[in-house]
Amino acid sequence: MYKFHPNQPARGAHVVNASYMVKPGVLGKGIGRQMGEHSLLAAKQAGFLAMQFNIIVSTNRPAVHLWQSLGFNIIGTVPQAFNHSIHGLVNTYIMHRFL
Ligand SMILES: CC(C)(COP(=O)(O)OP(=O)(O)OC[C@H]1O[C@@H](n2cnc3c(N)ncnc32)[C@H](O)[C@@H]1OP(=O)(O)O)[C@@H](O)C(=O)NCCC(=O)NCCS
Repeated sequence: MYKFHPNQPARGAHVVNASYMVKPGVLGKGIGRQMGEHSLLAAKQAGFLAMQFNIIVSTNRPAVHLWQSLGFNIIGTVPQAFNHSIHGLVNTYIMHRFL
């Protein structure tokens, strides 16, 4: 599944925020990439000007790789913002791209 909605109300509502989740049994089959591409097109068609992810955990290599390959930039790093079950406190990224 994926969903998107304005990242902020009112004067921030031209930036879209989205989230994605693929069922564990079918990871790595290209579904995430297809949803990413679909959501970029759908958000553009809905009139949004940019897409922003507010919290991508830095150790989430598939997600960081996928979004960078779809044109997103890491525009900010939030230090130790996620308490990972294995790695402990890790950084998170804010990722962004214009549509
Ligand atoms: C991120 C997520 C949506 C990707 O879904 P997916 O269907 O597995 O994605 P894809 O099969 O399209 O693979 C995406 C890319 O990740 C890469 N990848 C997979 N495992 C990787 C790893 N350990 N390190 C680096 N890249 C990896 C794949 O090779 C692929 O890149 P490529 O097309 O250049 O080969 C999925 O992992 C997920 O649901 N994670 C949990 C929720 C989450 O983190 N959501 C994202 C934040 S909103």
